Amino acid sequence: MRPSHTLPIAVVLALVAPACLFYVTPAADGPALFKQVGCTDCHGPLGMGSPVGPPLRGLARHWTAESLSGFLADPDAVLEREPRLAELSYRFRNRMPSFAHLTGSQRKTLARHLVESDAEERP
Ligand code: HEC
Repeated sequence: MRPSHTLPIAVVLALVAPACLFYVTPAADGPALFKQVGCTDCHGPLGMGSPVGPPLRGLARHWTAESLSGFLADPDAVLEREPRLAELSYRFRNRMPSFAHLTGSQRKTLARHLVESDAEERP
């Protein structure tokens, strides 16, 4: 009697447990992370820019997913050696904050999203 009950329960648990994990794990996709970690506070909901952050357009011309994820970890270091960024920076009162507290894979996901969505927009 008992074994015939435990099997369906085990099956249900096996199906439900991964779904629960999915819901408690922070969103792993780029657009969701962009909102979740606060990029939108300065760059606007779709990265169209605001008085406190530049529009994030044409990024694929200047960045690879690799270099951009490095920038997110230490923006000041990159700013120092990139004249274009230093110039862009004059327009804003505050600097781009570091996102070193994110995991490397979160930075990579964000960077890839920004570089790739950008490329898709171009004709
Ligand atoms: C406190 C405001 C603020 C927040 C939050 C912020 N940024 Fe920025 N960001 C800036 C400013 C200002 C600059 C211009 C460079 C500078 O002055 O530091 C910049 C520059 C950039 C650039 C370079 C743009 C170019 O033309 O190459 C990218 C890419 C970028 N931010 C992405 C992000 C991402 C992704 C996030 C979230 C993980 C984020 N930013 C969060 C203010 C912000």
